[in-house]
Amino acid sequence: MKLLKRIKYYTKTLILIVFIFLHTNCKNNESSDLKTPNKNDAIELKINELLSKMTLEEKIGQTNLRGSSSRVNGELPEELKTAVRNGEIGAFLNVMNLEYVKELQRIAVEESPNGVPLIFARDVIHGFKTIFPIPLGLAASWDAETARKSSEIAAFEASSAGIRWTFAPMLDIARDSRWGRIAESPGEDPYLASILGKAYVEGFQSNDLSNPTSMAACAKHFIGYGAAIGGRDYNTVNMSEPLLRNVYLPPFTAAINNNAATVMTSFNEVNGIPVTGNEFLLKEVLRNELNFNGFTVSDWDSTVEMISHGYARDEKHVAELAANAGLDMEMTSKAYEHHLKILIEENKVSMDELDTMVKNILRIKLKLNLFEDPYIPEDHTGNLYADSHLEEAKKAVIKSAVLLKNENILPLSNNTKVAVIGPLANKPHEQLGTWTFDGERDHTITPVDAFKKANAKYEFVEGLTYSRDKTTRGFNDAIRAAKSSDVILFFGGEEAILSGEAHSRSNIDLPGAQVQLLNELAKTGKPIVMVIMAGRPITITNIINKVDAVIMAWHPGTMGGEALYDIIFGISNPEGRLPISWPKNAGQLPYFYNHKNTGRPAETGQFVQMDSIPIGAWQSSLGNDSHYLDIGYAPHFPFGYGLSYTNFKYENISISKDTITFSEDLIVKASITNTGKRDGKELVQLYLQDIVGSITRPIRELKGFQHVDIKSGETKEVSFKISSGDLKFVNSKMINAAEEGKFNLWVGPNASSGLKRSFYLKE
Ligand code: NOJ
Repeated sequence: MKLLKRIKYYTKTLILIVFIFLHTNCKNNESSDLKTPNKNDAIELKINELLSKMTLEEKIGQTNLRGSSSRVNGELPEELKTAVRNGEIGAFLNVMNLEYVKELQRIAVEESPNGVPLIFARDVIHGFKTIFPIPLGLAASWDAETARKSSEIAAFEASSAGIRWTFAPMLDIARDSRWGRIAESPGEDPYLASILGKAYVEGFQSNDLSNPTSMAACAKHFIGYGAAIGGRDYNTVNMSEPLLRNVYLPPFTAAINNNAATVMTSFNEVNGIPVTGNEFLLKEVLRNELNFNGFTVSDWDSTVEMISHGYARDEKHVAELAANAGLDMEMTSKAYEHHLKILIEENKVSMDELDTMVKNILRIKLKLNLFEDPYIPEDHTGNLYADSHLEEAKKAVIKSAVLLKNENILPLSNNTKVAVIGPLANKPHEQLGTWTFDGERDHTITPVDAFKKANAKYEFVEGLTYSRDKTTRGFNDAIRAAKSSDVILFFGGEEAILSGEAHSRSNIDLPGAQVQLLNELAKTGKPIVMVIMAGRPITITNIINKVDAVIMAWHPGTMGGEALYDIIFGISNPEGRLPISWPKNAGQLPYFYNHKNTGRPAETGQFVQMDSIPIGAWQSSLGNDSHYLDIGYAPHFPFGYGLSYTNFKYENISISKDTITFSEDLIVKASITNTGKRDGKELVQLYLQDIVGSITRPIRELKGFQHVDIKSGETKEVSFKISSGDLKFVNSKMINAAEEGKFNLWVGPNASSGLKRSFYLKE
């Protein structure tokens, strides 16, 4: 009897120990690195256990991301319920009805053969209900915390609607403002984009995917999508491997190093092979080099579009190519659903391959804790439009608004009588920007709303009813209002629909009759402040001399009006800096500051303007270098540029050494003085140039930046540390290494200026 008791006691203790061990292991693993799953940890064991029970059909089901109309009314389609019950669907996108989400999930966990939960996905790009500035605007904040906060709030709100997977962040480097999707991008610089990419992932995933208010992030579009020829969406991409690795890959590396759960393959081909069927990119680069262990998903139909690309013969071939390349989940199209089974039977895709795909998907479902907790907690309301969310959205507008010009007009004093004019002064929907399925007009504060609320002295006359409006009917009224005011505030730009997916433009001037209206308004002699709301830089050389101030507000989102009111009346300083070079005209594109020097680098002094070339001039290079005869080579505003309501002076640059070894650091210091009358924040930027390389190097590369608050009259010293790690680049042998030699560095306010020093790197 005693012995029996003892055995029972020891067995219980043993069970308890095993339980604690497994639990701790599982917990550790939940927050553990997605890059290094340990095959003995609880999640990996669970994956294997599940896999051993799943039929071939169920495995294929996991790879199926089924689209659904955003607003299904009436009954949940029986066909969907049956498919889920049979384990034929792994995830859904755009199910925007919480009851449907719950019911589909219930069927998956209670009635499908192995109870594998579904994931519900949506494009929650720059906010769910509370809309933040478009991503290009958020990039103009140059602020990781702003990016992180915006995505944390987006996840908190969206998860209350059942969404646990967002198709963001978009991390495509964009060097061509004609490309409509530049609006969703982090801009043209890999260093800045990497900082933002990491921050977005942190915010969406809240550093712990098992938190029910988080969403799995999706780093997209892997890869090269922003390099579409001519800025035309979906267009061909040709690029050298070093370019891909030095410029386009780093933001993805940053997101994956920070445990981004999923990666979306892009629509485009790279050097002849569509990414969705590109084994080198998906297996070699993404899996083997970056150690990505989440799952990959195709973009909408990007699998079957391999047929149009001329890479796949038919849908079956599509499935074979994509599966063998390493694509785990297929969005909306059905190549896997239709053909994977037979491809496995024919040994054209191995069972191992399919198992790996399914494991990657199950890993994320387990990380999201969906097996334990498949439903959104009843009390999770998302605090939609909470004051704290709106406050953050407003701060983000102030941090991202870029003051491009200011001829002593801004900020306005409180009693200024203003004429509020322009097609975007009171357009709630347009100021939200692209990808805002869930943002609502009624919750959006336009500039006119803000002026009304503040009891400002203003008269509002639209002048043009939408940005493309070419009629001049409203001009007289606008001119009349302008004449009876002290200052004209013109809110123009582009409607939301003019940027975003498939919305590239060949001419990026202000559309419609906006320039014509501005010219008429200028004739009144009243000062003009132009506020641009747009998804891309808008070329304004045709109007800049007629206006006294220009603020780039991007599409600022829900709180745009209130934030802009604060900026215009000096309650806040505009803090944004350009994350993209601002072109003079579209013919100058693609343009990016970190270009190569060429054999005949452009210099201002060398420029012969075409109108000054004598008539009948004989064939000659005119001594010109790499530039255009009409606009030279420089952009209208450089990358990193942005004014403040005060001025800053850079002085006293110093470096700690003239030469560093591979293991030493270089300290660069400079002092910045606020020489204006207002306190302000300066964005101090550090650029480097590797003068001679085994492959040619960019003329400058951003390697650091700091936001510095400087009071009026105050001087602050800023210092940066440079080590050989900052000097590395991928060379033609695909080796990532720093090379000995001479380097230039600049500390300055943008990519076209700054205080310069040189140093050497030696063994
Ligand atoms: C196509 C877009 O390219 C992608 O960014 C988006 O996430 C999907 N459609 C889903 O809407």
